[in-house]
Amino acid sequence: MAIVSKIDEVRKDFSAIKKYNYLNTASVGLLPKQTIEAMKRYLDEERMYGNIYWREWEEKLEQVKKLIAELIGAKKEEIAITSNTSEGLNIVANGIKWKRGENIVLNDLEFPANIFPWQNQAKKHNLEIRITKSIGGKVPLEEYEKQINEKTRVVAVSWIEFQNGFKHDLKALAETAHAHGAYLVVDGIQGVGMLDIDVKKMDVDFLACACAKWLISPIGTGFLYVRKELIDEIDVAYVGWRSDEDPDNYGYRWFKLADTARRFEVGSPSFIGIQGLLESLKYIHKIGIKRIEKKDLELAEYLVEQLQNLDVRIVTPLEEDKPQTAIVSFTCKNVKEMYDNLLKNNIVVSLRLNAIRVSPHFYNTKQEIEELVNLVKTLKCNEIK
Ligand SMILES: Cc1ncc(COP(=O)(O)O)c(C=O)c1O
Repeated sequence: MAIVSKIDEVRKDFSAIKKYNYLNTASVGLLPKQTIEAMKRYLDEERMYGNIYWREWEEKLEQVKKLIAELIGAKKEEIAITSNTSEGLNIVANGIKWKRGENIVLNDLEFPANIFPWQNQAKKHNLEIRITKSIGGKVPLEEYEKQINEKTRVVAVSWIEFQNGFKHDLKALAETAHAHGAYLVVDGIQGVGMLDIDVKKMDVDFLACACAKWLISPIGTGFLYVRKELIDEIDVAYVGWRSDEDPDNYGYRWFKLADTARRFEVGSPSFIGIQGLLESLKYIHKIGIKRIEKKDLELAEYLVEQLQNLDVRIVTPLEEDKPQTAIVSFTCKNVKEMYDNLLKNNIVVSLRLNAIRVSPHFYNTKQEIEELVNLVKTLKCNEIK
């Protein structure tokens, strides 16, 4: 089936939008029908025959890595396939050769996926966790500079914060981290697939990402980018047959790690997930990330403009009255009731930390934003701010 190339024609590929006004990609993205069909085809025409199609599946895995690498400005050899963001972050956290007394710098807006793996290392190796404080929903570089010092080994940050859409300046953070000899480890899940990124230009050391949100892919698919020079620098916490330089050699021997990021993959991946991931990545590439970014930001800006006419409090930090990303959060006194009412009307958003988080993607429209805003107005959120 041909993939549509015009961004406004995509809606026919997402049948979920007939039933719901789905403004919730920051939670889970919608699957295009090409992805669903590829997964069904895999089961009905390939997997039912055992291992007959194994080589084709391996080839698809390689294509997936190529498309991910192209999307983020990396090389295919720097990509390991994972099941989710947490796995990627743990591969890095467990692989660092920690020294007692070192510290890890986080910030107070992070999702637990990017907190707990570091706390775990802190407990094991006697490390300090230093929290950079946000101010008005932003985490200024100056605040980071107060926390990062000569003992900092890692600065771990979400490119885009899940709760309010704040976007970190990764390049500036990388510069500061590197000046102190620290790694910049990025949780990319809330940005990759929404905004364009080039990990080389940003000088990111590691980027862990799941593909189920903005990359509109099956839940349980993800990747880890490891900068080439660092592949050898971090230990492998797990080693399996796929970590070896020659995974097709089944004879007894001492393993020799692959010189690519494949060394961080242990055994067989979820090939059904890979089928879906490949179709979704092709879909994203076909539209083009720059066009997706433009559409997503247009929708978010429109939403902010509309919300500014209501008496709700926009939690998302704005730059010259505009959101930086397609995650927009707002709150009011009766926020839980408001959220329940939106859901009752088939408008799907998230309730996060006492705010309604709206996250449109390229398959949404301005009309859908208006529908949400009109309902918020009707439910009189403004009266009980
Ligand atoms: C910033 C961030 N990191 C990670 C996750 C999820 O982690 P994982 O991919 O490991 O399920 C989420 C949301 O679910 C998130 O918002």
